[in-house]
Amino acid sequence: MSFYDKDVVSIRDLDRKQIDEIMKVSEKMVPYAMGEKRTKVLEGRILGNLFFEPSTRTRLSFESAAHRLGIDVIDVSEMSMTSISKGETLADTIRMVDAYCDVIVLRHPHEGAARLAAKFSENPVINAGDGAGSHPTQTLLDLFTIKRAKKKIGGLNIVLVGDLKYGRTVHSLIDALAVFGANLTFVAPETLQMPEDNVDHIKRKGADPYLTDKLENVISKADVLYVTRIQKERFPDPSEYNRVAGKYRIDNEMLREAKKDLVVLHPLPRVDEISPEVDNTPHAKYFEQAFNGIPVRMALLYMILGGEGL
Ligand code: CP
Repeated sequence: MSFYDKDVVSIRDLDRKQIDEIMKVSEKMVPYAMGEKRTKVLEGRILGNLFFEPSTRTRLSFESAAHRLGIDVIDVSEMSMTSISKGETLADTIRMVDAYCDVIVLRHPHEGAARLAAKFSENPVINAGDGAGSHPTQTLLDLFTIKRAKKKIGGLNIVLVGDLKYGRTVHSLIDALAVFGANLTFVAPETLQMPEDNVDHIKRKGADPYLTDKLENVISKADVLYVTRIQKERFPDPSEYNRVAGKYRIDNEMLREAKKDLVVLHPLPRVDEISPEVDNTPHAKYFEQAFNGIPVRMALLYMILGGEGL
């Protein structure tokens, strides 16, 4: 199956077979991502890393993934440093960057920006997060982390907690988890529950999610607890943020009710939704999850740019 020259704008663009293939190639990339093996298999290629919204993990792991494959990187990490600040459109900016590189990675505050970029770029575009829209490469690394930790995805009880309204990582993740046949529970205050459109979409894929605001009622059955930050920057009204901030905090007391082999994930950054004391428990897999961004993004770049021989 060829991934050559493909855009990755939404996880919905990928089918189960394609995701399985990415997982397989990601596994092969682990020793390279760790620096145990070295390659220059994509030497001479250029990645345009455009980040018009803050990022630590996605931007740096794409950059690291590129370097591990021998790819050069040109990058922008602030909109104010580009000619967009002089009034240039995103479409024109993308046309320019397209001419300077072989693949574009784009993070943008507006939902739909990556789809628009893909329309104007001849070269493939990878969505690194578009507003409250989606974050498909985060989903791929989340799936990879769950698969590595639990050896399967289908049939697992996966509880997603926090800001399910504005959190783009969960919007992408539930689409994939539904395809894999996981049992889904959404825990959030009513005002931050999973949007109806997203719920309807996964129901059409055969999922039957349970929605609640009470984590304490569902934590004992969870195999995976996926915690998310309340997305302060996306709240139109700061007083609404203050009402819901700090509602869920995972600490060792809360985890006393959990299965021994519960895996706790978080796309990060965290604020105070996971207490640092959890970091030292066997449940904590979120730093491993963040590392997995490198092999998974290496796999994507390798497949999209037509790498061969690894
Ligand atoms: N998980 C994630 O997207 O983190 P960054 O915002 O730091 O890239």
